[in-house]
Amino acid sequence: MDVLLVDHPLARARLTTMRDARTDSAAFRAALQELTMMLIYEATREAPVAVERVHTPVARTDGYRLANPPLLVPVLRAGLGMADQAHKLIPDAQMGFVGLARNEETLQPTPYLAALPNDLSGRPVLVLDPMLATGGSLAYTINLLVERGATDVTAVVALAAPEGLRRLEESGLPVRVVTASVDERLNDSGFIVPGLGDAGDRQYGEP
Ligand code: PRP
Repeated sequence: MDVLLVDHPLARARLTTMRDARTDSAAFRAALQELTMMLIYEATREAPVAVERVHTPVARTDGYRLANPPLLVPVLRAGLGMADQAHKLIPDAQMGFVGLARNEETLQPTPYLAALPNDLSGRPVLVLDPMLATGGSLAYTINLLVERGATDVTAVVALAAPEGLRRLEESGLPVRVVTASVDERLNDSGFIVPGLGDAGDRQYGEP
């Protein structure tokens, strides 16, 4: 499984703001949005382009656009904080939504929403979620996409635990991961260490 680590200094600075327990909700959301811009930028670096001629005020030249804009899929709640920024960078993307809440005791994802196109064959998909912890939420989401025919899935996460990456790798699901950090480990409560706490709560408060 491909893992692209975006460890650009500006990405590291935003992630540091998100990690800092003193960062308030508004500053956390702003840092996540800025980090998302960098992650999406790198995630789409190899995306195929279509060439079309364009007239500048001076001459004709080749212009470019994404040949096959991806479906964006934020995983609610925390992934919502990445959705607008990703959409700004890829304005012609369609967006689907998956809602999951991780049971704090069993660590299993409890689904409450899946609003996705029925046929995803031939369409790249970018799944947006700040955290890849046990990998249960992403594995569940990617399965929903694969059931609909997706074969080209990129998970865009702010940070990942090695345990979650291993689980995705062992699942054999067709996914590549773009992340700003691979942290040390998960603790007994399923939190990423050092991590940043709970990305949903830090953006929106406890439900
Ligand atoms: C968090 C996070 C991921 C998931 C990661 O969401 O945003 O979706 O947990 O954990 P996993 O890799 O072990 O599945 P949570 O369930 O807390 O919901 P929220 O986004 O509504 O806060």
